[in-house]
Amino acid sequence: MSKTYKICLLPGDGIGPEIVAEAVKVLEKLAPKYDVEFDFTEALIGGCAIDEAGEPLPQATLDVANASDAVLLGAVGGPKWDTTDSTKPRPEQGLLAIRKELGLYTNLRPVQIFSALSQASTLKSEIVEGVDIAIVRELTGGLYFGERHRYYDEEGAGANGGKGQRAVDTLEYREYEVERIARQAFEAAKTRRGRVTSVDKANVLDTSRMWREVVHRVHDEEYPEIELIDMLVDNTAMQLVNNPRQFDVLVTENMFGDILSDEAAQITGSLGMLASASIGDGVSLFEPSHGSAPDIAGRGIANPLAQILSAGMMLQYAFGMTEAAADITRAITEVLDEGWRTGDIKDPETPEDKIVGTAAMGDLVVAHL
Ligand code: IPM
Ligand code: MG
Repeated sequence: MSKTYKICLLPGDGIGPEIVAEAVKVLEKLAPKYDVEFDFTEALIGGCAIDEAGEPLPQATLDVANASDAVLLGAVGGPKWDTTDSTKPRPEQGLLAIRKELGLYTNLRPVQIFSALSQASTLKSEIVEGVDIAIVRELTGGLYFGERHRYYDEEGAGANGGKGQRAVDTLEYREYEVERIARQAFEAAKTRRGRVTSVDKANVLDTSRMWREVVHRVHDEEYPEIELIDMLVDNTAMQLVNNPRQFDVLVTENMFGDILSDEAAQITGSLGMLASASIGDGVSLFEPSHGSAPDIAGRGIANPLAQILSAGMMLQYAFGMTEAAADITRAITEVLDEGWRTGDIKDPETPEDKIVGTAAMGDLVVAHL
């Protein structure tokens, strides 16, 4: 009897449905080879959930996710739901809420270069060649989950100026939250090149000072053999484009990780290449690091590779199907080596590159499996 894995599909908004469809094709192609079955159940999240159910993460969706072995998500958001009115629902709240509800505190974002794409990066190929970074982003704490409010200040703040709106976001971390993400980073480093760069803003923020203390304590007590480097976030942003090869594991809090991972993605040539795994103590969730790209949604030109690579991470981390995950990476490498490109990874200086759309790119990967 083959094993069945239940997968909750959350295509979401924008290009989400288009790229999730390609990942499903790839999974279905792999299933017989590994004698497994994938049982997909689709549910709503983000803007489409606001439209149909009035909220970005309906309870029904959470129920499907909780009853699954893993969640594969596309992307959420779009101009239709953009608002600066804090009282209106936003698609992104659905994503933040499912991360919180499933306890997904670790977000792994591997930044890897496919050598065929080293020309596609906006950085010089000698800078990006050989880059291999594991970004470990804390995902359920910090500013994105702190108390926030906005109000009209009738009195005015004395010397700081008169009446007007005031907005407050709170950045808070608890010791155990830092401890557990630090452990994830050190564990990842053990299986890699043994170096962790911990990113903070300890020259200004108290949360960062505590972060630094706790990371060092976990290091000294449990992982003394790992090399640990502290780096300020502004310097890290610069070092990532100056000399990205110096990084092995990069661990940081939620917002810094959000920003630095977009920056790091560009090293790979495109945000369309960056997969991610969000892991906690229960069901895990896998999604590309990019957004819903509403500007190209519905045109069949989006790059499905980050979504397909995220499905690969799901096979590896959620189902322990390491070989099947390696098949996906190998197939993508071959497709890229043959010169097939979606628009975002096309190198203007390489006229031999062959441009294909979303579905054709998915078919090529399937054909190479
Ligand atoms: C990401 C996205 C999300 C985040 C948004 C859509 C809430 O930018 O996954 O990086 O900030 O985490
Ligand atoms: Mg982001």
